[in-house]
Amino acid sequence: MSWTVFREFLKDPTKIGAIAASSAGLARTICSDIGLVGAGCIVEYGPGTGVFTREILHRKRPGARFCAIEHNPHLAGQFRESFPDITLFEDSAERAPALLASAGMGKADCVVCGLPWAAFDEDLQDRLLDATLSIMRRGAQFATFAYLQGLFLPAGQRFGAKLKRRFRKVAKSPVVWRNLPPAFVYRCEKG
Ligand SMILES: C[S@@+](CC[C@H](N)C(=O)[O-])C[C@H]1O[C@@H](n2cnc3c(N)ncnc32)[C@H](O)[C@@H]1O
Repeated sequence: MSWTVFREFLKDPTKIGAIAASSAGLARTICSDIGLVGAGCIVEYGPGTGVFTREILHRKRPGARFCAIEHNPHLAGQFRESFPDITLFEDSAERAPALLASAGMGKADCVVCGLPWAAFDEDLQDRLLDATLSIMRRGAQFATFAYLQGLFLPAGQRFGAKLKRRFRKVAKSPVVWRNLPPAFVYRCEKG
């Protein structure tokens, strides 16, 4: 297991929001059933050590545009070493519209999101979701994960309701038990 995420969590828990990188099983689940194979433009938020990135690269078609946005400087540096050919913005996903425009990228078909929503206040959640909807074309897919315990906590339930208000369709995956802690994926379609 890599200790990088744990070390960064200790330095800044509210921005990392996880004690360990996601499992390969969660990466497969978040990248499933969101049309990655046919997507022409893919954006990843909060790649961390790149667990989801590897799965995206495995599934995306050659020639698809792909960029990632990572806020943490240490994780961004490590990402660049592991994935030197991928466009990485060391910035906040709140700035996704300006960042994509600066790279000449059009609207996204898929947004794969590793952000720690439970660690964010409501205002930041709203700003991030506004930015996300504005970079997505109609019918595009947004996939994000949450830890299982969130289903039983008011903040987690509020976040689920927020997704339902903003997206045309919201579906939950089965729980990925082989993850620390167990997690599930929200798959959301923009109307
Ligand atoms: C829970 S970790 C997930 C990392 C990786 N996707 C995984 O699943 O193992 C959350 C990641 O989101 C990044 N992050 C937090 N706030 C962010 C923001 N506003 N914009 C971009 N990345 C952010 C953190 O630095 C961290 O890499």
